[in-house]
Amino acid sequence: MAVKQIGLLTSGGDAPGMNAAVRAVVRTAYENGIEVLGIRRGYNGLINGDAAELGYKDVKGLSSMGGTILFTARCPEFETEEGQQKAAKTCKYLGIDALICIGGDGTFRGALGLSRHGIPSIGVPATIDNDIACTNYTIGFDTACNTAVCAIDKLRDTMHSHERCSLVEVMGRKAGHLAVYVGIAVGANAVLVPERPYDFQTDIAEKIRRSRIRGRAHFDVIVAEGAGNIHEIAEQIKEETGLDPRVTILGHIQRGGSPGVRDRVTAARMGRHAVEILAEGRSNRVISIRDGALQDLDIEEALKMKKDLQETMYETARILSSG
Ligand code: ADP
Ligand code: F6P
Repeated sequence: MAVKQIGLLTSGGDAPGMNAAVRAVVRTAYENGIEVLGIRRGYNGLINGDAAELGYKDVKGLSSMGGTILFTARCPEFETEEGQQKAAKTCKYLGIDALICIGGDGTFRGALGLSRHGIPSIGVPATIDNDIACTNYTIGFDTACNTAVCAIDKLRDTMHSHERCSLVEVMGRKAGHLAVYVGIAVGANAVLVPERPYDFQTDIAEKIRRSRIRGRAHFDVIVAEGAGNIHEIAEQIKEETGLDPRVTILGHIQRGGSPGVRDRVTAARMGRHAVEILAEGRSNRVISIRDGALQDLDIEEALKMKKDLQETMYETARILSSG
């Protein structure tokens, strides 16, 4: 059956570039003679029928805009059989032939559920965590890294003036990709990630000691949010080194802001591909970028895949932070 109308939603944590992906979907759909219905507030909107048409002009200027004009939400009700049945019923009522869901792994589980309820669905990966196994890259990661790096560069000025130790917590949920990239970019003394256990003496204290002997006046430790309690680590540093540590939790600032070029372009490519898959009569796919090439995979297969840190990146962070 030819797709006449696509439903489009953003779900889970927002990421810079989600709006650029919305624009790409709407403009590509327009080229293919397909209507787009924007669903607000993720799967909540699908359950409640919270939808509005999205035309060519509605997405003007969206490439540079952070956040998501569709709003996003977490919707526990949708994780139940009843919630998914309600959503599928709403799709039929609204004349949605297929759905494009922009978000992370959880969002793709939702898309899989919908496809099992007869609504062909496509997942577009967008999360600052870059923790989706089927793709090397997720929309939002690069902008979030840049935001964190800009903040840490500023912190460094004051930490240097006071000869302090700065501990900075970055987001990433259970993954350390953001921490590793940021740690390399700022030349941190230590980078702690959930995927690799650390030893306080070897991985922190000794690095600070060596760095001090070489004459460094300030020290930076990047802690991925899933790697441990940053306040406890700061206390340990204080006791062990006599330094005056300061903790900064960057938090949601990492999710905001205008997306950089990499995220705008990735969003454009992925959004276009998502619509073209549906126009070709294919569905139940997740868009991915692997070795630089745009691809798509079966949602179920994609969700079975596991992602580890890129070992070469982790090693680079470790070697360059050796004090
Ligand atoms: P992300 O998409 O960023 O990983 P979440 O894990 O919070 O974010 O998931 C976003 C939403 O996707 C959830 O609030 C829920 O509505 C839906 N979802 C998550 N897991 C499932 C699941 N197993 N089945 C159906 N829907 C799910
Ligand atoms: O998945 C994106 C993310 O920002 C994670 O890095 C973080 O753990 C989580 O979302 C925070 O979620 P919330 O916005 O609900 O506080």
